[in-house]
Amino acid sequence: MTHDDAARIRLTIDGRSVEVDSGTTVAAALAMAGVNGSRRSVGGEPRAPLCGMGVCQECRVTIDGHAHTLACQTLCREGQRVDTSNGMVGV
Ligand code: FES
Repeated sequence: MTHDDAARIRLTIDGRSVEVDSGTTVAAALAMAGVNGSRRSVGGEPRAPLCGMGVCQECRVTIDGHAHTLACQTLCREGQRVDTSNGMVGV
């Protein structure tokens, strides 16, 4: 393992394997993976991270089975499972 390998983290987003740098937030990983949203509103509209600082609550995803986790306030971890499928279509 090289130093660069140690700085990379592999997680899954909606079942797809994604590799990011250590210190990357889940919200950033979603964007880098091309995921277009984090959840749907009660009315069915797609929602996505907005403020990036834990205020708007629009980035809620399920992480390792824990629903409504703020993606912008959560760092990626090795083996983490992120799920945005609470109604999202085409992500
Ligand atoms: S992006 Fe606003 S709370 Fe996460």
